[in-house]
Amino acid sequence: MTARDGYRVAVVGATGQVGTVMLRLLRERAFPAREIVPFASERSAGRELEGGLIVQALTEESIQGFDIAVFSAGATTSREWAPRFAAAGCVVVDNSSAFRRDPEIPLVVAEVNPEALDNHKGIIANPNCSTMQLMVALKPIHDAAGIERLIVSTYQSVSGTGVAAVEELESQTHALLHGMEPPAPQIYRETIAFNVHGGAGNFADGDDHTDEERKMMFETRKILGDESIAINVTCARVPVRNSHSESVTLETRAPLSVEEARALLESAPGLRVVDDPTRHAYPTALDAAGHDEVFVGRLRRDPSHERGLCLWVVSDNLLKGAATNAVQIAEVLHERGLVRPRVAA
Ligand SMILES: NC(=O)c1ccc[n+]([C@@H]2O[C@H](COP(=O)([O-])OP(=O)(O)OC[C@H]3O[C@@H](n4cnc5c(N)ncnc54)[C@H](OP(=O)(O)O)[C@@H]3O)[C@@H](O)[C@H]2O)c1
Repeated sequence: MTARDGYRVAVVGATGQVGTVMLRLLRERAFPAREIVPFASERSAGRELEGGLIVQALTEESIQGFDIAVFSAGATTSREWAPRFAAAGCVVVDNSSAFRRDPEIPLVVAEVNPEALDNHKGIIANPNCSTMQLMVALKPIHDAAGIERLIVSTYQSVSGTGVAAVEELESQTHALLHGMEPPAPQIYRETIAFNVHGGAGNFADGDDHTDEERKMMFETRKILGDESIAINVTCARVPVRNSHSESVTLETRAPLSVEEARALLESAPGLRVVDDPTRHAYPTALDAAGHDEVFVGRLRRDPSHERGLCLWVVSDNLLKGAATNAVQIAEVLHERGLVRPRVAA
């Protein structure tokens, strides 16, 4: 590719939380784009974004001529429009849940299974945010000793639900701090301010796990390529603006000491270990916010099992949990020659 070439990139959902960050990261990471076009709903069409970009509506005409599209506009929009972009010759990286379960569609964490991109057919799925950070932390342990069983409890921030959920937390918190009746919940079923919801996501008919919990179970096995991993998950929503935290207990197939696990985590890509009980040091949601890496701490032996390990995993759900990984996938596609750039006229 020469300097005057570069990809024509669409950002779908560009006015949302994740889309806004994707636009910024494409610029900051100097992704080789000759043009970036933001798309959102018809409500936002014509709006000017930072850098003078004008929001477009999705139409059969406006989606033509792109090389790469990063989607972050919800599963309904992805189901309708991602296949149309792909049919028009574009590679789509999709942040929604629309395609993650499709066996034909790679589900990729950039540091964990980039080889899955090699056989893509035009659409690539970005994992759920809470699964994403878990995979970065578990991959080195799974490669070294195999994971037989996994028990995860999440403490998920409200930004994982969307910008309206952040506003709900803020307005309820403000009201309660000023001695007023909080506004009735619109996004969640219960008040989220000063509360904890023990079942993040939705219960499908007849299921005693939420869809959020099912996503982590399914996606973990798909990304690690191991259907035999036993997994149980509880997803909770906490009144934190940004960054998901996870308590993880795992049992390895082969013995793995805490020291060996620590050495593996310290040298793994995309991970930062913060773990010193003598200083009460471990990662918090606020520490992780604004960083691309996944943070790990509280590494210790599970006293109830000789091959059990415990860890605490924290990451910014809007960055590595969504936008950073989507842009990293676009970078890997570029590096591996898996996008054919159109030559500028
Ligand atoms: N938040 C996270 O941590 C996270 C992590 C991983 C994946 N995701 C996924 O990313 C997606 C977006 O999340 P978000 O938090 O950024 O949500 P958000 O802040 O609510 O933004 C939604 C975006 O989608 C656009 N949109 C809505 N309906 C549309 C339509 N019919 N056609 C075109 N664009 C439409 C919105 O445009 P308008 O401004 O015009 O309404 C907005 O740009 C979801 O699929 C979510 O599951 C989110």
